[in-house]
Amino acid sequence: MKALVVTDPAAGTRGLTLVDRPMPTAAINDVVVEVHAAGWVSTELEWPSTWVDRAGRDRTPSIPGHELAGVVTALGYGTTGLSVGERVVGLADWHRDGTLAEYVAVEARNLAVLPDDVDATVGASLPISGLTAWQGLFDHGHLEPGQRVLAHGAAGAVGAMVTQLAADAGAHVIGTGRAADRETVLELGAKEFVDLDGEDLSEVGTVDLVFDVIGGAVQEASARLITGGGTLVSIVGPVEARPADGDAVDFVVEADRGQLREIVTRVRDGRLRTTVGRTATLDDAAATVGSGERARGKTIIQVRP
Ligand SMILES: NC(=O)c1ccc[n+]([C@@H]2O[C@H](COP(=O)([O-])OP(=O)(O)OC[C@H]3O[C@@H](n4cnc5c(N)ncnc54)[C@H](OP(=O)(O)O)[C@@H]3O)[C@@H](O)[C@H]2O)c1
Repeated sequence: MKALVVTDPAAGTRGLTLVDRPMPTAAINDVVVEVHAAGWVSTELEWPSTWVDRAGRDRTPSIPGHELAGVVTALGYGTTGLSVGERVVGLADWHRDGTLAEYVAVEARNLAVLPDDVDATVGASLPISGLTAWQGLFDHGHLEPGQRVLAHGAAGAVGAMVTQLAADAGAHVIGTGRAADRETVLELGAKEFVDLDGEDLSEVGTVDLVFDVIGGAVQEASARLITGGGTLVSIVGPVEARPADGDAVDFVVEADRGQLREIVTRVRDGRLRTTVGRTATLDDAAATVGSGERARGKTIIQVRP
């Protein structure tokens, strides 16, 4: 099969090389999926799991990519809940060969069924951004209707999901980002917008929940806004700032079939929007993700357009 691999952590996206690789096989509880579309996260070549296995051993040449939409072609021993020919969407393991390939082996529990009326490109844009937003707001942030949520980077992949899911849950959402993002963020359901380059964050007043996708000084300033009993949720590494009287949580998104099914259903029903930005074929993927162009929305590799 064709696959993109990386071998050198110092090479960045220049190191992405299209090669022939053996077909993956399905281990216990796995399925093999024929990949139709795969999501790309711009920071993934910086993640240790791209380069080493769970024991810290070099696993290069490794195939990046963790989001997929495709069709099940084989079941491993003991695998239940999915069948060959079924359309699926899901999150591949951080430490195994990924989805920038014609086929990938994934644990079946990481996948949800993708309805026929949801396009594979749309499906592949959902697992990381949708599950991260869901888990940050509801599992870790314990969001309640009527609470005030500060959603950073609200025009970005995760932030746009955070903004919509929080607004849909009855929260008062204050989105942040660049000046040019204002209209987009308000259309997603935020009631207020703060341009982090030109406006003073402290003027938003107190909030119950901060969803941090930026870190550093923005995280620190945000922690000071959290009201008693509130929560700072961060997805950009160990939290460095803590609210005076509240919780701070950092986490890495996990696969969850039930949550993913709910996210896909909301997208199908028009209750949740995803923004697909650049698309490329597997042959063009290295050039596209390496171009350095700023692109709004998820980058999707259409492995089988
Ligand atoms: N822990 C986890 O499970 C997890 C899961 C998903 C993502 N992540 C991480 O979360 C981060 C965000 O991911 P993403 O996919 O949402 O990225 P993204 O699509 O690039 O969104 C980030 C958004 O934040 C904006 N932004 C960043 N710094 C800013 C600043 N100083 N001032 C104003 N706006 C700023 C960006 O604007 P510009 O593009 O203009 O800079 C962009 O709109 C990444 O670091 C990613 O690795 C972690």
